[in-house]
Amino acid sequence: MKIIVCENYDGMSRRAYEEIKKVMTETGGECVLGLATGSTPLGLYKCMAADCEAGKISYEKTRTVNLDEYVGLPAANEQSYRRFMRDNLFDKIDILEENTRFPDGNAEDLAAECERYDELLEKTPRDIQVLGIGSNGHIAFNEPGTPFDGRTRVVELKESTIKDNSRFFASEEEVPRRAISMGIRDILQSKKILVLASGGNKAEAVRAMCRGEITERCPASALQRHGDVTVIVDAEAGAELC
Ligand code: PGA
Repeated sequence: MKIIVCENYDGMSRRAYEEIKKVMTETGGECVLGLATGSTPLGLYKCMAADCEAGKISYEKTRTVNLDEYVGLPAANEQSYRRFMRDNLFDKIDILEENTRFPDGNAEDLAAECERYDELLEKTPRDIQVLGIGSNGHIAFNEPGTPFDGRTRVVELKESTIKDNSRFFASEEEVPRRAISMGIRDILQSKKILVLASGGNKAEAVRAMCRGEITERCPASALQRHGDVTVIVDAEAGAELC
């Protein structure tokens, strides 16, 4: 694992963008980016949008796959992850909408949808996967206790996650109780993995991910088994790494 501690959130975002730019340059933009939602990658997405708006980079040939989606929220709902990605990145870069993929949280047959997404992931190997990390060590919606060989599946959200995510909804009752999430095995299939973390509430999870025992109690510790992981954190999130 390569670990980079930056001074602050902006530095973390700019350094993360360097990693994305490297992949984009090496592939001439013809690559698959695995993308994540959440507050952490917003600065990275701003950097991507700014360079694209300035004509310095193009995503016309790029494909993306996202980690997860809520079950039961219409795609246009402000809190759906598809809408999040549209508002914070896709509408600001020249990517083609048909090249952006999500699990369909409104599919009639959710089990079949999980299988479809896994097949899609097999056919579209990611060049780099962007990840945030939960304060409990989760990656995507893979909460502590998730087997490392898990594939895409429907997950019941933990009370703590419902509480965390309620900040984006009018009330806790409105937070969906289920989501479709890539599994840890799917995440590990990406050629490169880029983990971002910011803030003191992530410091212990970052330590456990990088230096702790490899255990299902900390889903992110599975990343120690991958050969090409770059962890970029701000000073607060990296405080326990010494
Ligand atoms: P955050 O979420 O970026 O909003 O902190 C990260 C996560 O829970 O995976």
